[in-house]
Amino acid sequence: MPTSAQRPRVLSGIQPTAGSFHLGNFLGAVRQWVTLQEGNDAFYCVVDLHALTLNPPTPAELRERTRVSAAQLLAAGLDPERCTLFLQSHVPAHTRLSWVMECLTGFGEASRMTQFKDKSARSGADRVTVGLLTYPILQVADILVYQANYVPVGEDQRQHLELTRNLAQRFNTTYGDTFVVPEPYILSGTAKILDLQDPTAKMSKSLGDAGTINLLDDPAVTVKKIRRAVTDTETEVRYDPKAKPGVSNLLTIYAAFAGRPVAEVDQDFAGQGYGALKAAVADAVVAFAEPYAKRTKDLLDDPAELDRLLARGARRANEVADESVRVAYDRVGLVPPPT
Ligand code: TYM
Repeated sequence: MPTSAQRPRVLSGIQPTAGSFHLGNFLGAVRQWVTLQEGNDAFYCVVDLHALTLNPPTPAELRERTRVSAAQLLAAGLDPERCTLFLQSHVPAHTRLSWVMECLTGFGEASRMTQFKDKSARSGADRVTVGLLTYPILQVADILVYQANYVPVGEDQRQHLELTRNLAQRFNTTYGDTFVVPEPYILSGTAKILDLQDPTAKMSKSLGDAGTINLLDDPAVTVKKIRRAVTDTETEVRYDPKAKPGVSNLLTIYAAFAGRPVAEVDQDFAGQGYGALKAAVADAVVAFAEPYAKRTKDLLDDPAELDRLLARGARRANEVADESVRVAYDRVGLVPPPT
């Protein structure tokens, strides 16, 4: 089933985490989403169903987080005239295809997903749900129902993309050519932004707050967190991710906001210490985050307009996704529903 549009299809999703997006998911994914609106037929969703897999928020919190996430995506530069922005739960085709894909996935195959293993190890066996185990398969369906060619993500999603490719191929081999086999779109420079307190681990809400820069935080908090970022016992500002992960991570963030290659920006700090680097990173982050927070707040001040934009996105997403599921159900041999 070829994609109907001339332009390549792009699909990606982000979880509605508490509070705000952080520098990791923003630089690793959302910035690429904004760029890829141009020249592609882009579909982006807030994966609200995924938020139920682990430590589910209260119903009120989930609704709030979902709207705040959608507002942040618009504040970051997604334009509803140029992309399709929607909520995962508004498109039932995702869960409908997910069931078929679950039936093509080995139990061992699903259990081997690193993110499942990490998260289940961290939260303890009695709190791990079947939803956490099958979540990557719902993600597979998120992608395949749009016949996406490219999926912009950070490095931590590479294995889920590999699963997506395997399941698309398995379906195609079993039932005939139906799904586009998508390619991950991972920008090497920002694919893994590291925690400021533990620069051996990726920045993530689950690691604790001190090493995570939340884009909606008060600027004073951001500046303080960057000032306290872990570096090393040398003094030279040099990009060397193996020997100097903390300093290299700060240079990566600085370069991303400056729109310059990281290999070149350490020259800016020749003869200066880590204090100068941290001050420059803090300036760059705050210069972006202040207007971003203001735009997010303005969008949240008009919830009816936000819901209208999401409804419009859902209409278009449902059109495309329903057709894929109709064809896939038919190929599997499910009798077409009465019309
Ligand atoms: P999530 O919500 O954890 O993260 C959203 C995106 O941000 C990237 N990311 C990072 N990139 C660089 N450095 C970091 N420290 C960092 N932290 C997060 C992630 O790689 C991701 O691209 N399962 C997905 C959401 C999802 C999805 C999809 C993605 C659901 N369906 C379909 C693509 C296509 C997740 O939990 O991402």
